[in-house]
Amino acid sequence: MDIIVSGIRSTGNLHLGNYFGAIKNFVKMQHKNHCYFFIADFHSLTTHPTPDDLYEKTKQVLSEYIACGIDPEVATIYLQSDLPEVAELYLLLNMNAYVGELERTTTFKEKVRLQPNNVNAGLLTYPVLMAADIIIHKAVKVPVGKDQEQNLEMTRRFARRFNHMYKVDYFPEPVPYNFGESLIKIPGLDGKGKMGKSEGNGIFLSEDPESISQKVMRAVTDSGPTRNNQEMSEPVKNLFTLMTVVSESGTVEFFRNKYNNCEIRYGEMKQQLVDDIILFTKPFREKILDISSNENYLRKVVREGAEKARESAAKTIRDVRKIIGFKSF
Ligand code: TYM
Repeated sequence: MDIIVSGIRSTGNLHLGNYFGAIKNFVKMQHKNHCYFFIADFHSLTTHPTPDDLYEKTKQVLSEYIACGIDPEVATIYLQSDLPEVAELYLLLNMNAYVGELERTTTFKEKVRLQPNNVNAGLLTYPVLMAADIIIHKAVKVPVGKDQEQNLEMTRRFARRFNHMYKVDYFPEPVPYNFGESLIKIPGLDGKGKMGKSEGNGIFLSEDPESISQKVMRAVTDSGPTRNNQEMSEPVKNLFTLMTVVSESGTVEFFRNKYNNCEIRYGEMKQQLVDDIILFTKPFREKILDISSNENYLRKVVREGAEKARESAAKTIRDVRKIIGFKSF
């Protein structure tokens, strides 16, 4: 039984990228492992949500977690902000994290480019908080999408550094995990890059059919192949990747053959994709509505989750304080 940890920011509704990159794996892992899944609401503060937004988005993501099949009776589901131990470990790890290495991370450089007016220290130390989230439970596997690979590399580095610095073998070095397969990147509908919460290029699990249809029909393509077996452009490749995750393999084959024979009509392919995404998301949509309306249930889930998560977190903090040399007078 391995210890597994993973989390999702509460900055927006869950999209297909979150589901196929991470949640699907969480759900598969929960029965055979000791799993902790949390909502990274501290992390979401880097984007400065209003208090109402913070609460509503957290509630939404929590409902979506459960609707996706993460079972609070089996796994431990909690809010990051309910674990003060995470904040303490973050503080301690910050002392051994260097500004130079944090400035060099791709995600930080990307944020500096995207939001030059809000380059806060929380963004710089984002990977340190992430490391604290993971090693607070001494996790060994972390189900995440490809975009988190570098953050996981930093987590391993901080765990290794702590062990080395204090000459202990305390923290394991956790690995990003997808059942032995390479990590997944689900593309957005804009023809470039990954599907994201804030890029406006995603389809949410809670999205209504009308809006799914509009978004997919507007997705970027190209002017079509002119030679048999022509290499696909990035936007078309992306549509096929989306189709691979939501449609039957026969459907994907059908359109791939059409593409290879220069007979493809993108409008027809998109309509199929719309139908398949609607079919795929329908059960989630219904469950999300049902769960999010039950505040008493949600309150119980996070209260019990925090209690369980704090047992393991408190033990780590006790050990870490001792290793570092804090003694009571
Ligand atoms: P976040 O909230 O951006 O995304 C949550 C999870 O979804 C995956 N994901 C994707 N996978 C494939 N294709 C995509 N287009 C795509 N978009 C998102 C992410 O890889 C992630 O697994 N820093 C994290 C949250 C976090 C965390 C942690 C994760 C905080 N602490 C500790 C694991 C362990 C984040 O921003 O994920």
